[in-house]
Amino acid sequence: MSNQSMTSLLRTEAFINGRWASASHQFDVCNPATGAVIAKVANSDSAMTHAAIDAAAQALPQWRALLPKQRAQLLRRWHQLVLDNKRALAELMTTEQGKPLAEAMTEVEYGASYIDWFAGEAERSYGTILSQGATGHKSWYIRQAIGVCAAITPWNFPHAMITRKLAPALAAGCTMVVKPAEATPLSALALAQLAHDAGIPAGVINILPTQQPAAIGEILTTHPDIKKFTFTGSTAVGKQLMAQCASTVKKVSLELGGNAPFIVFEDANLELAAAELIRCKFRNAGQTCISANRVLVQHSVLSQFLELLQSKLQQLTIGSGFEPAVDYGPLINQAAIDKVAGLIADAVAHGAELIAGGKLLPELGPLYYAPTLIFGITPAMRIAQEEIFGPVIAIQAFTDEAQAIRLANAAPVGLAGYFCTEDYRRIERVSTLLECGMLGINTGAISHAYNAFGGIKESGIGREGSPVGIAEYQEIKNITLGDLA
Ligand code: SIN
Repeated sequence: MSNQSMTSLLRTEAFINGRWASASHQFDVCNPATGAVIAKVANSDSAMTHAAIDAAAQALPQWRALLPKQRAQLLRRWHQLVLDNKRALAELMTTEQGKPLAEAMTEVEYGASYIDWFAGEAERSYGTILSQGATGHKSWYIRQAIGVCAAITPWNFPHAMITRKLAPALAAGCTMVVKPAEATPLSALALAQLAHDAGIPAGVINILPTQQPAAIGEILTTHPDIKKFTFTGSTAVGKQLMAQCASTVKKVSLELGGNAPFIVFEDANLELAAAELIRCKFRNAGQTCISANRVLVQHSVLSQFLELLQSKLQQLTIGSGFEPAVDYGPLINQAAIDKVAGLIADAVAHGAELIAGGKLLPELGPLYYAPTLIFGITPAMRIAQEEIFGPVIAIQAFTDEAQAIRLANAAPVGLAGYFCTEDYRRIERVSTLLECGMLGINTGAISHAYNAFGGIKESGIGREGSPVGIAEYQEIKNITLGDLA
């Protein structure tokens, strides 16, 4: 670790009951840009997991008994400390995840915005008075903290996917055990240190880095003291975790895989559409669940749009996240490279035309992949059916609006969708018909704490952020008052 500010937040043990807890074994966390080992981190085992759940259960009564305003004040202090340490947090993130430093700083701000948002929501969690029934009795319902929660979070946004779950849980009065992705535990542990420094009491937040995700996941999804489970990751893993949660009927929220259509209609501002597509696609090197996966372009503007994209791809800079003005860095690991290369090979074998890229950039390191533009994709190809999770723009052509909607909706998942048009009536029609939880119209940037983030179909259950995000960590109790003597 060469950088002083990053070192100040480097923690390598589990965080249980307000203390750093060592494990009998450690695992290596590596820098994807260089392959170098950054840190040896505690490989939390089942005993540590049970200790973390016990700590969260013991902390719960006092934490939920605080006034919402008191919880909000602690969240705001944590929010401020995160912003004060933005640079150190971003350096840690770039080192363990690979994204450019400027993008990591943006993620820290984005992640912090969830803490700020839910500090506000803590104080705005209202119940409802119900109309009087036939008996004349009074009825109302209140919202209460659901209890101890558990979260499993991904490596692509090692900071924001944690605050997006922890902040509403804490705001609601819940305590939590978090298992961060094994590739990126350092951002999670740094967040725990700052929460502790902000005065969030012992046991309210517990972080379990581990290299045994299945075993620890099984405890988190089956333990009877955990009342709510939340996960961001693939649909396949989400289905399994959801099935495990059934044994104790936990409330679940799942943010799973997407296969976002990005539709460019002939009446779009093509320059804007190309710029927004590039922004959406190359954020985090394409490793986001809401990345444009199937780019559908109307025949009449196809050649013009391809030309625009080609010239924009040539302007991208790829390199280590610590170099200035880099647009994207390495992919997370060799499996990610193999997946992208396999999808390209399959598409080309089935008749797609590679216009740019489609290759590694070994002069930069083993995990760098060139910005890629591929055309002639058909719905049957794997690249149209699976999440690419890499820097690849895969283009299909369509003739009219009805066909674009049919193609876009022909997926079992429905997380994000995008379309570009200047026609207001088309905006009304298409936004009603597209099957997805989130839509960007003439924009590729849809992630904000005030937005309701989540999917439909096999993309998940529940919403994060927005005024509804806190409800995922609450349950409703209905009260009916009869006559008083
Ligand atoms: C994700 O890829 O899961 C999250 C992306 C975001 O919050 O923008």
